Amino acid sequence: MNRARSRATALFRRVVMINGLIFTLGTLILALSPATVSARVKLTEIPVLIVGLAVMLTANALLLRRSLAPMLKSERSTASATALAAQENERQRIARELHDEIGQTLTVALLVLKRAVDRAPVEIRNELAETQEAVRSGLDEVRSIARRLRPDALEDLGLNSALAALCSEFTQAAGITVVKHIASQVDRLPPDIELVCYRVAQESLTNVARHADADKVWLDLHTTPHRLTLRIADDGKGGVTREGAGINGMRERALLVNADLTITSPRGEGTEVRLYIPLSGQVD
Ligand SMILES: Nc1ncnc2c1ncn2[C@@H]1O[C@H](COP(=O)(O)OP(=O)(O)O)[C@@H](O)[C@H]1O
Ligand SMILES: [Mg+2]
Repeated sequence: MNRARSRATALFRRVVMINGLIFTLGTLILALSPATVSARVKLTEIPVLIVGLAVMLTANALLLRRSLAPMLKSERSTASATALAAQENERQRIARELHDEIGQTLTVALLVLKRAVDRAPVEIRNELAETQEAVRSGLDEVRSIARRLRPDALEDLGLNSALAALCSEFTQAAGITVVKHIASQVDRLPPDIELVCYRVAQESLTNVARHADADKVWLDLHTTPHRLTLRIADDGKGGVTREGAGINGMRERALLVNADLTITSPRGEGTEVRLYIPLSGQVD
């Protein structure tokens, strides 16, 4: 509240100062230049007036834009932080509903089916058993979607374990080996930093599975007192040229914690995503 008010005050001052400057300059030019306007404005004087007005308005707009740029920028990054937080909350909600509601319904269906299979006449036992299999894999899918939406492990066990779990799920689903070096951390990192790392690793691995044609992935995480580095590299086809919603999402998340995200992807030589996060709250 206080911060919002002092920002508004600063904004007000700047606008007044810039407008004042423009008016003063305009008046000076009028006073010093030979231009005059008759008591009843003549037709020939109108273009001069219009040009003068246009010059003043343009100068005003340019100065205002330059001077407000830092404010607009910080506004935008606050807006994107809010949007990302809303997205995380929404994911949590959907994950909970998937897990608690559909998951619960399917679990009950499985139990009923199990009893039915045991007592069913032989003619339909096979079909029932197949139904049971289908429901079971539906339940697995729902659980794994819920897990992807909401990284439980992150909250409960911290980044290292959550990344390890992510890697083993990825290997299971995509059949691609992950060589991981995750330095053990003494302390837990701040939650927003952990979440950014997790989401960047998740999107990078998803991209490897979807686009890379890779046999192998490397995931390294290490920290110094001042910096955390996360690297996800693959030996696939490389050649990333287009940045879609996935990569843009990673960049936006990186911005939230003042991090740098670089992607190097020479064609035919695999892709490497690196995330550098300054630690101890300082931008280095
Ligand atoms: N690891 C990768 N290997 C090869 N190509 C990739 C890799 N990651 C991303 N790409 C390419 O970059 C594009 C943009 O990725 P992204 O922004 O995540 O969007 P999406 O995954 O939705 O297509 C992908 O469509 C793909 O062509
Ligand atoms: Mg993607």
